[in-house]
Amino acid sequence: MKEHARECNTEIQKHESVYVVSHIDADGLTSAGIICKALQRAGINYEMRFVKQLDDNIIEDIANINPQLAIFTDLGSGMLDSINANGINAIVSDHHQPRGEGKYHLNPHLFGANGSYQLSGSGTTYILANEIGQNKDLVDIAMVGAIGDMQHLKKGHLTGVNRLLLEEGVKNGHLSYEKDITLFGKQTRPVYKLLQFSSDPFLPGLSGDEDACIGFLHDMNIRFGGDERWRRWIDLESAEKQRIISGVMQHCIKSGLQPFKVERLIGEVYVLLNEREGTEMRDASEFSTLLNATARYDHAETGLAVCMGERGKAYEDAKKLLGEHRQNLVNGLKLVKENGITQLDHIQYFDAGNKIKETIVGIIAGMSITSAGRRDKPIIAFADSDDGVKVSARGTQDLIRKGLNLSQAMSDAAGSVNGAGGGHDIAAGATIPATGRNEFLNKLDEIIGSQFQKN
Ligand code: C5P
Ligand code: C5P
Ligand code: C5P
Ligand code: ZN
Repeated sequence: MKEHARECNTEIQKHESVYVVSHIDADGLTSAGIICKALQRAGINYEMRFVKQLDDNIIEDIANINPQLAIFTDLGSGMLDSINANGINAIVSDHHQPRGEGKYHLNPHLFGANGSYQLSGSGTTYILANEIGQNKDLVDIAMVGAIGDMQHLKKGHLTGVNRLLLEEGVKNGHLSYEKDITLFGKQTRPVYKLLQFSSDPFLPGLSGDEDACIGFLHDMNIRFGGDERWRRWIDLESAEKQRIISGVMQHCIKSGLQPFKVERLIGEVYVLLNEREGTEMRDASEFSTLLNATARYDHAETGLAVCMGERGKAYEDAKKLLGEHRQNLVNGLKLVKENGITQLDHIQYFDAGNKIKETIVGIIAGMSITSAGRRDKPIIAFADSDDGVKVSARGTQDLIRKGLNLSQAMSDAAGSVNGAGGGHDIAAGATIPATGRNEFLNKLDEIIGSQFQKN
């Protein structure tokens, strides 16, 4: 991969300015941050553009702009034919399942690594950036992109090429990792909120109930009144952390939570050592959520600035957006619970209409599997979009072992109703015409049924 990255770099160095196109999620933003930093350091001008999805219209538009060179990060591998047909001189640095071929195409799938969990768009772009120049310090946001795409979930820790990059980052003093509680918000949130907002696993009697969470911590003799109401996980003594972890685990086992869910309370967590303690950027998972809160709401430039090291206004803006994003996730999950999930033979689905933004419906679909859905079928979510209907699909590792490939299924089912889709085996998306929804559902149900049968 490095060798091919070197060839890509040779092409990049021929140009004074390039046009960068990336994706509007945490992995897309960190990929953009990495390539922009590398270009900046190399003295190459760049223009940046973020897109929700790369389709023929956007590719034609880019062709009309006629850049000397376009660099696509965290997208492009599924659209190589169109990029070629439009005569764009392009570098594609991506990790989605490839369709077609490209001259400068850097993608782990082409080098024996699985792009859905062994290397992210940001990791791929980090490899490219280190051929452009010395950019080893960017390994921290490369790992944030991998966590944003949930690549650590397959084995409970980062593996494959991700792991090689992680170890390099640890050796160079940029990163550390340790076993710790996996609940969200260890750097920035009061401890009881970690319990209160836990959706994976859903903690019986605690999730969603602030008083119960505070009472639970009191009973464990965790000081938690007055000024100490705001103590965060990072403020606790290590004995207190131990007490909470075993207390929560015992509570969950007593409440009948399945052991594999209880085990998910502990896992490897990733710390960015160059960031200030108590900020979102210190924790890879909080950082990735902060980024999603910008780009998925048309504020990619804010997230990009944070990725490139700005800690003034951009960070303040991002924090505000994060508050709104959190509220939207809570509301979205509630809506799915209230309206319910419809079961077909091999899939389950909900239609959010215009109640959930199409750019976050996939996140809510993924969270809904654990909070409201069943684990024996993939979940499909619909949301209204300007171009028709947006579809997001999420599966589980168990289902992949049984033959599920959502990328293939979504691409085929969308194609059959004049839509387009793709992604990863475990998480995929599509856009289809509104009139094709029911036909799409039946087709998808049938395709996924046959994927299970073949296995
Ligand atoms: O375009 P992209 O590669 O970023 O999309 C990956 C998506 O897949 C993310 O939204 C991520 O949350 C989702 N995912 C998931 N579960 C996994 C792996 C990825 O929901 N185990
Ligand atoms: O928005 P949320 O409900 O998470 O509110 C927590 C608030 O408490 C945030 O404004 C956060 O900055 C603040 N906080 C604090 N001291 C801490 C932890 C959080 O002031 N140790
Ligand atoms: O939008 P969502 O988070 O559901 O996307 C999940 C995955 O599907 C992402 O990797 C995204 O890049 C991919 N996708 C795609 N084509 C679409 C929509 C999403 O390849 N039309
Ligand atoms: Zn990605």
